[in-house]
Amino acid sequence: MEINVVGLGYIGLPTALTMANAGYKVIGTDYNKKLVDELNAGRVTFKEDGLEELFSKAIKSGNITFTNKYPKTEMYIVSVPTPYDKFSKKVDATYVINAVKNVLEVCDEGAIIAIESTVSPGTIEKYVKPIINKKVHLVHAPERIIPGNMIYELKHNSRTIGADEKEIGEKVAEIYRKTTSGDVIITDIKSAEMTKVVENTFRAVNIAFANELAKICNHNGMNVYEIIKICNMHPRVNILNPGPGVGGHCISVDPWFLVGDYPSLTKVIGESMKVNDSMPSFVLELTSKIMKEKGLKDYKRVGIYGLTYKEDVDDYRESPTLQLLEAQKKHLAEPLKVYDPFIKEDVVENQYHDLKTFLNDVDFVIIMVKHKEIIDNMNLLKGKTILDTQNICNLEGTYKI
Ligand SMILES: NC(=O)c1ccc[n+]([C@@H]2O[C@H](COP(=O)([O-])OP(=O)(O)OC[C@H]3O[C@@H](n4cnc5c(N)ncnc54)[C@H](O)[C@@H]3O)[C@@H](O)[C@H]2O)c1
Repeated sequence: MEINVVGLGYIGLPTALTMANAGYKVIGTDYNKKLVDELNAGRVTFKEDGLEELFSKAIKSGNITFTNKYPKTEMYIVSVPTPYDKFSKKVDATYVINAVKNVLEVCDEGAIIAIESTVSPGTIEKYVKPIINKKVHLVHAPERIIPGNMIYELKHNSRTIGADEKEIGEKVAEIYRKTTSGDVIITDIKSAEMTKVVENTFRAVNIAFANELAKICNHNGMNVYEIIKICNMHPRVNILNPGPGVGGHCISVDPWFLVGDYPSLTKVIGESMKVNDSMPSFVLELTSKIMKEKGLKDYKRVGIYGLTYKEDVDDYRESPTLQLLEAQKKHLAEPLKVYDPFIKEDVVENQYHDLKTFLNDVDFVIIMVKHKEIIDNMNLLKGKTILDTQNICNLEGTYKI
């Protein structure tokens, strides 16, 4: 069986490699020529534990090629972006629609098109089915891997296959069973769409609950971590950790799809998203409070550690630090200093690329991301004012959220 993976980003590339390593002939397509050139030159395009090994194994197997063309194959896997419309909050299915159109121009009747991109329930029915102009089979196979542990999860997570034709569901499930040791569950397309969005919404709502607790505790001088630790000793309570906000392309995006489609039915979800989105500004408020308390006046001596949306990855899309810098623009003329060991190019103003130089230039450090680098080098922060939003610093006098 030959498979064409369309979209070779954070999801598409490891998926294509995993399929190739499972023995399928894979053609990876991306319309970003630079990205395809990099892959053809033998270089992976982002950092992820185990990705280089997966890549070289797939190349050695001779099972994978990369191109910006759309080939004729028996099966297509679509893993292109699905942002949300900032005003309506609804899913923006444009990339998926365009990718399916690209595929339809070349595929034969009978081809299977499996959409891995996250979409809101009903998207395939509403936006994809109307553009289908020949007899192909549509499947939704949502991806649920987490950056930082993608390669392990690709091989072990259970998968959901949404198909409205039973035989096709079985056929596609067999293909995925060769790539994962997890269960492969078959359901209908709309249910599969819903499960993926619900999984991320569950995380978002629970994170929002922890964040709201942090605000309540902070307001009245209580230690939220102590409270959560004790509560979690109750056999039926499992509260997550609060933090500086959420980012990335899943938890900060997907729950909005439900709010956009069901505005009158999503009170808890909508408010949760607002609580999470308010956290970067809350960190800013805490920063000014601490500066007043310590008699610090110079924001030029305040620095943010961490720009990515989670630890030990190089993805900074929608990150809490970006949100904080955006909120900060309204109050301060000069952006705060920023350092992240994973971001090599300049993506924001006042960005540093060396930890020690960064620390020399600041007296106040806001820890936004718990990269292993800072956990291993915490002693370098001695003597600084520290606001630790991740609860990783035990130095005396450290402020927490
Ligand atoms: N990143 C994650 O952690 C994650 C986890 C689970 C699910 N998802 C979902 O997976 C999907 C893909 O996310 P991602 O993070 O991999 O996105 P990404 O932006 O990293 O990659 C998407 C790629 O698709 C390419 N592309 C877009 N339209 C194309 C077309 N018509 N033809 C060829 N190439 C095209 C882009 O050039 C890009 O390289 C999204 O729906 C996302 O919500 C992401």
